[in-house]
Amino acid sequence: MSVDRIIERAVSEGRRKLHEHEAMAVLREYGLPVPEVALARSPEEAVEAARRIGFPVVLKIVSPSIVHKSDVGGVVLGLETEEQVAEAYTRILSSVEKHVPDAEIVGVLVQKMVPKGLEVIVGATRDPIFDAVVMFGLGGIFVEVLKDVSFRVTPVSREEAYEMLSEIKASRLLDGYRGMPPRDKEALVDIIVKVSRLMDEVKEIRELDMNPVMSYDKGAAVADARIIVGGRS
Ligand SMILES: Nc1ncnc2c1ncn2[C@@H]1O[C@H](COP(=O)(O)OP(=O)(O)OP(=O)(O)O)[C@@H](O)[C@H]1O
Ligand SMILES: [Mg+2]
Repeated sequence: MSVDRIIERAVSEGRRKLHEHEAMAVLREYGLPVPEVALARSPEEAVEAARRIGFPVVLKIVSPSIVHKSDVGGVVLGLETEEQVAEAYTRILSSVEKHVPDAEIVGVLVQKMVPKGLEVIVGATRDPIFDAVVMFGLGGIFVEVLKDVSFRVTPVSREEAYEMLSEIKASRLLDGYRGMPPRDKEALVDIIVKVSRLMDEVKEIRELDMNPVMSYDKGAAVADARIIVGGRS
């Protein structure tokens, strides 16, 4: 489905937050490195999807009522077999049901499990004066506690994207540290530039968050994405 169609449908259903598989589809359309996903509505569908995508997979709750999926037992990683997938599907639903009794459940996302990397964050918001602004940082405490992030107004050039990588205080981690390999900066620059283009071309997107993006010595992968559309609120 096209980006416009995905956004139109969300707006017509009164939703401002795209479902994760919709957000992933938008990002894929713009050439971002997203793992394969499918939405399942039963353990059987989840198994079927996992078989198609290939093991190992990750299962995640898809619900507009839930902001932090893992806080409510809504994310299960590293599923290697059909039995594990079916069991995880049921476990996720009962855990979510327990934590958020009235949650509206869209289904469960089946996603290709990607290797562990250095977790970084790429996001974008709209500013009343500058319009789209792209953000880069390292995941976890770096962004949440230390607020160690860099920003650029769109359109972000490749040169500016490289600057964003080097401006964060923890940028040395990208160059390799204590036996950890140097990261593929070209792949991260690519992501930043593509997000910049997406924000400039699709004005309905108000907010975009990819948290985390796994950064490798070769390449990168977007493991989680959130897109907010529609008017200011
Ligand atoms: N496809 C994947 N492959 C490998 N690891 C993953 C994948 N998806 C998620 N993870 C890991 O699991 C963690 C939690 O997943 P995710 O970010 O989707 O949920 P969340 O952070 O709880 O939800 P939210 O972002 O809404 O708060 C990620 O930070 C990442 O480390
Ligand atoms: Mg996340």
